[in-house]
Amino acid sequence: MPIGLRISDITRGYNSSPVIDNCSYTFQAGSVYAIMGPNGCGKSTLLRIFGLLESPSKGNLTYYSGNSELAQDMKLRRMITLLLPDIGLFNTTVLKNVEYGLKIRGYNKKRIHDAAQEAIELVGLTHKMNQNALLLSSGQKRRLGIARALVIKPSLLLLDEPTSAIDVENTEIVESAILRIKQERSSTIILSTHERAQADRLADRLLMVENKRLVEV
Ligand SMILES: Nc1ncnc2c1ncn2[C@@H]1O[C@H](COP(=O)(O)OP(=O)(O)O)[C@@H](O)[C@H]1O
Ligand SMILES: [Mg+2]
Repeated sequence: MPIGLRISDITRGYNSSPVIDNCSYTFQAGSVYAIMGPNGCGKSTLLRIFGLLESPSKGNLTYYSGNSELAQDMKLRRMITLLLPDIGLFNTTVLKNVEYGLKIRGYNKKRIHDAAQEAIELVGLTHKMNQNALLLSSGQKRRLGIARALVIKPSLLLLDEPTSAIDVENTEIVESAILRIKQERSSTIILSTHERAQADRLADRLLMVENKRLVEV
């Protein structure tokens, strides 16, 4: 089930003048949002806040399932996945890397294996399934990161520049995986990108960080 998120008057600074100042916005459950803007405008900061890795210095976040507000506890954290460009892969096979998120959630073996295989196929890594993840190319590693994120079907999927520094072919595979998740409408997706064309291809709504706030474009 996708979740909604409302941010109200959030401000975040790092010892200096705020990076994000009095920013409000409502993300609807099941939609795909792209946050654009130049380097340093606060995209990653926002995603870390939405992913509950960091708190705003002022303001509130409210997460919704349907009309009910969700408590900000461990259960909610498990419904949210934040994928960073520099993902930490485990020193084991591609398959085990993808299975991990399901294992810690206690699913049965068959379900874990089937779901992992499906996710690996979606990012075109079936032929690499039994290879050590650390030996993949950088583009393949990025695809593996996407597979690990989507296999757990998060209610809120946060993707920080999912295709930065990878080539066209890998970008296309990552984008088509994101579009597949979008089709299912089982996750709310918020991604950051500095590429307008990519935002157009992937998102229902385009946002910019402008004057330290999110604005629709
Ligand atoms: N942990 C941190 N400590 C100090 N400054 C930070 C920290 N994280 C981000 N910043 C600063 O906040 C600003 C926004 O950074 P960031 O959110 O990474 O922007 P973007 O992702 O849009 O490039 C930058 O000026 C950056 O240097
Ligand atoms: Mg960033």
